[in-house]
Amino acid sequence: MNKLIYKLSISRRATKKYNGELVDEKDIDYIIDCAIQAPTSIGLQNFKILNFKKTMIENFEKNATNGDQPKGASNIIVFVTPNEKGSHNKKNKNLVYFIDDMTKSLAKMKDEVWKKESSELLKKYIYGNVKPELHINNEQYYKKQTYIALAFALLGAEEINVKTTPVEGVNVNKFDQWARKKGYINDEETFSVAMWIGKTDNNLITNTPDRFRKAKKVIVTNIE
Ligand SMILES: Cc1cc2nc3c(=O)[nH]c(=O)nc-3n(C[C@H](O)[C@H](O)[C@H](O)COP(=O)(O)O)c2cc1C
Repeated sequence: MNKLIYKLSISRRATKKYNGELVDEKDIDYIIDCAIQAPTSIGLQNFKILNFKKTMIENFEKNATNGDQPKGASNIIVFVTPNEKGSHNKKNKNLVYFIDDMTKSLAKMKDEVWKKESSELLKKYIYGNVKPELHINNEQYYKKQTYIALAFALLGAEEINVKTTPVEGVNVNKFDQWARKKGYINDEETFSVAMWIGKTDNNLITNTPDRFRKAKKVIVTNIE
């Protein structure tokens, strides 16, 4: 198969060591643009992105990790989402901003019934428990969405030959505390997932030289 996205999925590897060189800001910008274009449940887009630049990497490692993550990155992108408290606060600026935008967009809908229903649903989704049927709270629900954006960003980076590592292994309490103290996030926001970005000397430096993926027949069950 030589389709573009498949090829990028195959060539992308999680890089475990970077060489400390800077990645062009325009490349970082492109990667962020890809993340922003990802779909989110009900189109809520309830995340923010923090772009920690080269000068902040050591600080980040010291204040937000256990020192066990890939070294020498150029940028660390962090997806931040509302925590449970933030997701129920009607004064939360992100939510207010979003509801204003969505309301304007809904105003353009031609079907009046659909328009009214959508507006009511929107308010319920934003201020209530977003998806009770998922049996997770809003905080977990928002965090799930960022993983899709992360995947878009990983593939965008691969397209322009920039190396990345998806990283869950940030110490969330440490990060939240530090980032709040510094004013990067407020007390209604929390760390979701991160992405290390950089360059490598030695082509790719990964955990394993071979890329392991289970066979399709092990993963897929067709049901008719
Ligand atoms: C959601 C997610 C979280 C991850 N967290 C970490 C991490 O904290 N530290 C790390 O070094 N790698 C992390 N990885 C990278 C995986 O180790 C890597 O993707 C996996 O071993 C498969 O290798 P490949 O991406 O090169 O195919 C993470 C990957 C994903 C998708």
